[in-house]
Amino acid sequence: MEQYIIKGGTQLKGEVSVGGYKNAALGIIAAAIMTDDTVKVENVPDIRDIDILIQVLQDLGAKVERINKHTLKINGAKIETVTADSDNVRKIRGSYYLVGALLGKYKRAQVALPGGCNIGSRPIDRHIKGFEALGSEVKIEHGLICAKADRLIGAPIYFDESSVGATINTMLAACMAEGQTTIENAAKEPHVVDVANFLNSMGANIKGAGTDVIRIKGVTKLHGSEYSIIPDQIEAGTFMFAAAASKGDVLVKNVIPKHLEAFTAKLMEIGVQVEEFDDAVRVRADKRLGSTHVKTLVYPGFLTDMQPQMTTLLSVSNGTSIVTESIFENRFKYVDELTKMGASIKVVESNTAIITGVDRLTGAIVNAPDLRGGAALVMAGLMAEGFTIVENVEYIERGYENFESKMQKLGAIITKVDSNDSKAIKKFKLKVS
Ligand code: EPZ
Repeated sequence: MEQYIIKGGTQLKGEVSVGGYKNAALGIIAAAIMTDDTVKVENVPDIRDIDILIQVLQDLGAKVERINKHTLKINGAKIETVTADSDNVRKIRGSYYLVGALLGKYKRAQVALPGGCNIGSRPIDRHIKGFEALGSEVKIEHGLICAKADRLIGAPIYFDESSVGATINTMLAACMAEGQTTIENAAKEPHVVDVANFLNSMGANIKGAGTDVIRIKGVTKLHGSEYSIIPDQIEAGTFMFAAAASKGDVLVKNVIPKHLEAFTAKLMEIGVQVEEFDDAVRVRADKRLGSTHVKTLVYPGFLTDMQPQMTTLLSVSNGTSIVTESIFENRFKYVDELTKMGASIKVVESNTAIITGVDRLTGAIVNAPDLRGGAALVMAGLMAEGFTIVENVEYIERGYENFESKMQKLGAIITKVDSNDSKAIKKFKLKVS
């Protein structure tokens, strides 16, 4: 197992470039097998979840070639099976997009129930509702989502609550269904739009992605395409918040500032200076920050994936803040770890954190409970006095490419070592003391 060791107290300064959006890439890479032509996808993040999905596609018989670190060529002409039932499928959430992709193309799919971060119960009933509305029979058998249809027929679908995954999955299946599908109360998140744009680049006919009504006219065939994935709003947000937490001055490059508006607004409200450029944001903080109230909401509201970073920043801000999680019921597991570092946070009714800002955090050994919680603990380590060890960094590496080296380039004192390598740990501590 690997861990990060961080010596806190350095201000982050300089420039950092954001990679492709993990959560869009998962949908796009799964969708790429829906044509027999070759698809070239650029700006693919080089992270664990993507490596796992590539392996799953290869196990199905797809040809996936990494032509450089961030570019894939995918060809789904020789898919041999519609059954994806390996441990890899169960390790990530995004593998559920194979149900929509295989069902759309082959009218059959058997895909193991997905894994992903343990941040709540994460049911898939809305995905099933979407597939069933299109005329598919869906059963859960032996841990697999089994979907089949003689024909997929376009239909009106109304989601009583918005779901990113169910919207994307329904779009995947519907773009090769007969006739028109209308998804009402569709998720509006940027990755829904990116997957729709990618499908359209392959010949699909999807209109309205980014609004709450998506209209899809089914086509019989999709074709090859070249497509570049949008920047990762969560990676961008994480660096923005880390810059603010360290009282630094960082230019976060290769972003779409519009996707960051909810973070920018909250940062400015608590006293951070944020300057927007065409494809970059500059984040500066030079004084103790103020308190605020935040509730996670669907886009364009404040993203649940930035909730741990927000709480962490507020843990050392002046006054009392309240952060309410309304999307996932189990997303405060990192709070116990922050408390070990001296934060004063009380979680009430399991979805509300009451944060009393403390003057400082102090380094401790903490455990990354999931991807974003882990990133937030690294941020806490940057702010804390002394050394912080963040264990289970594999969670963080699922979603952040070269996290520690990007942080190092901004001046952070951080390294990754094997947990059993006590010599390396000592050496790092001596070197930076
Ligand atoms: C996606 O998860 C992301 N994952 C999550 O990213 C992100 O937090 C989330 O969207 C919200 O933005 C991927 O894209 C792989 P949802 P997803 O369906 O699709 C409930 C990260 O750190 N729900 O929009 O699972 C669900 O339990 C992560 O990168 C149902 O009840 O999110 C949740 O409360 C983690 N039934 C809410 O809806 C369903 O069938 C929203 O979930 C589907 C969802």
